[in-house]
Amino acid sequence: MTAFLENKLIKRKTSGNLRTLKVTQNLIDFASNDYLGLSRSEKLAENVFQEWSEYEKHSTGMGSTGSRLLTGNTLYAQELEDSIATFHGYEAGVLFNCGYMANVGLIAAIANSHDAIFYDLNVHASTHDGIRISCAEGFPFRHNDLEHLEKRLKNSRVKGNRFICIESIYSTDGTKAPLQEICELSKKYDAHLIVDEAHAVGTCGPKGRGFVAAHNLTECVFAQITTFGKALGTQGAIVLGSNLLKQSLINFARSYIYTTALPFHALAVIKCSYALFPAFEKQRAHLQELIQMFRQVQINASEAPIQSIGIKGNENAINLSKYLVETGFDVRALLSPTVKQGHERLRICLHSFNTKAEVSALLKCLECQRRFNHA
Ligand SMILES: Cc1ncc(COP(=O)(O)O)c(C=O)c1O
Repeated sequence: MTAFLENKLIKRKTSGNLRTLKVTQNLIDFASNDYLGLSRSEKLAENVFQEWSEYEKHSTGMGSTGSRLLTGNTLYAQELEDSIATFHGYEAGVLFNCGYMANVGLIAAIANSHDAIFYDLNVHASTHDGIRISCAEGFPFRHNDLEHLEKRLKNSRVKGNRFICIESIYSTDGTKAPLQEICELSKKYDAHLIVDEAHAVGTCGPKGRGFVAAHNLTECVFAQITTFGKALGTQGAIVLGSNLLKQSLINFARSYIYTTALPFHALAVIKCSYALFPAFEKQRAHLQELIQMFRQVQINASEAPIQSIGIKGNENAINLSKYLVETGFDVRALLSPTVKQGHERLRICLHSFNTKAEVSALLKCLECQRRFNHA
């Protein structure tokens, strides 16, 4: 009866990419998205407890008790949305339970089968899924390839609206989007620009406001996705844009409408994180120093906290990551099908709590391994 499940899993195992859950302990963290160490911050925990001690004023209890459109809405949630939108320079914001739900809900709410979505081939799975659910025609363009994007925009015949979906800092390898140029193309071809800032907010821009703010391009962006599970050290996401976009999401985003809203304690952590990270200039400066250390040694190293080391084949990538774990470093491999076959890699995340000595030891280890492989 269950052979259909077993067969699929056996196929996975044979291709060397069977996913399993692991618990790691006592390793140096070069894997998490906790770029500023906020998830482990005692100050953040203290501030959340303080906020929590006043919670009766704001909360319905341990749970939010329903969708935002039913009993799950609070003044606290509305004020938090408004203050985050103001911080990022947008008219309005809509909270989602996570970034995945934000991307899927946003894209499926605003695009339909008459529309065209131009998207970078390296965008996150949630954007791919949103495009699929929207039924819009998808036009992928090669990663950060402006010529290819323009060709696609020029040649597509579209009855409805055009959208361009990109990430400002790409999650798999830390490459940065040519944001200014893509903004110009979006204006030239009358396309609405959607920027996922999951890996940028907190780590770059003035007060950690992200890559869009760093380039003063907020006005050009139709919708910005900011997630709280990376540098902000918690969970959840917000879609930022105009009041009109907000009304559309409240009415049409199914992953917003048909789910229980974030409870008070989750909102409190988001609020307290926003009260802390803008002032983390020292942490951002240290992170930049670690990135520069990486760039001095690794050819093609990115300018972001995410670094990627290409290793062809799932087995090779798994073996190198195992070796690093045995040496004491938590480094994970990105395997196909998460990445395209032949583009397997190690994904290394640098954090403000990593020391220079730790990065130096990791770089030495990678160098030894490289020499060993070429010997
Ligand atoms: C670029 C990007 N967007 C969206 C998401 C999804 O965010 P969340 O983990 O909050 O669901 C991720 C998470 O890995 C991501 O890397």
